[in-house]
Amino acid sequence: MLLDGHPCADGRGLLPLDDPGLTLGMAVFETLRTYGGLPFGVATHLERLAASARFCGIPWSDALADLLRDELGTAAAAIAGESKLNVLLTGGGRRIVRAEDLDLSRAGAPVRVVTRPWVPSPWLPGRIKHTSRMAWVLAARQAGVDEVIWIAPDGVWTEANRSNVFVVRGGVLCTPPDDGRILQGVTRDAMLAAARAIGVGVREDPVPAGPCEELYLCSTLKELAPVVQIDGYPGPGAGPIGAAVLAEFRRRA
Ligand SMILES: Cc1ncc(COP(=O)(O)O)c(C=O)c1O
Repeated sequence: MLLDGHPCADGRGLLPLDDPGLTLGMAVFETLRTYGGLPFGVATHLERLAASARFCGIPWSDALADLLRDELGTAAAAIAGESKLNVLLTGGGRRIVRAEDLDLSRAGAPVRVVTRPWVPSPWLPGRIKHTSRMAWVLAARQAGVDEVIWIAPDGVWTEANRSNVFVVRGGVLCTPPDDGRILQGVTRDAMLAAARAIGVGVREDPVPAGPCEELYLCSTLKELAPVVQIDGYPGPGAGPIGAAVLAEFRRRA
């Protein structure tokens, strides 16, 4: 783990106890993974991190982007196999880069979810990837499931607490639009590109809650994970369209 470029083990990597990242949960972050040892989608992740940092008033510069790109590469190279990478910028302007062995079993693994009402926050739009997530974590933990899918007041599924949502309806792969309510997932966009490349019909439109042929959560670590239980009932899980898109995504990644 590196704090401001220093290994925490050497005593220089110390986070001040009054950093707003600790006292207010005010920090922004990205989670990446490697494919073939190389971090995937670095430029897109750093663009999203820059947008989140700027929105939250956390210092950002091109020089910082260069440092982070280098540190991510170094951190990934220190892991023998595939790695999970985490980069975090605190409200106090400190940066943390972490790498650990990637748990490959999570990618594409079945997930159980519940649905819960989505409470919009005009002060913190969905496109900001921030660390103030305790309410979301507790919502899933208290329901004893992997994740929570949010239902907006207009009756649509927006996203899950750590993933985007994909459904197959009428043979078309649908996912909610980037309308400010969701995080624009790096994997989501790559999955849409994979679907288009193999001629699967795609729609980025509001997704009304309800029955579907296939239902997935999509994120860096989950890739495309079939939902096998929803609100205590069997979920539609995986199917031929998701399987084909996931295979193409992996081929391209
Ligand atoms: C709320 C939310 N939506 C979507 C995603 C998926 O984003 P990505 O594909 O970039 O991992 C995440 C990832 O952590 C998330 O926290």
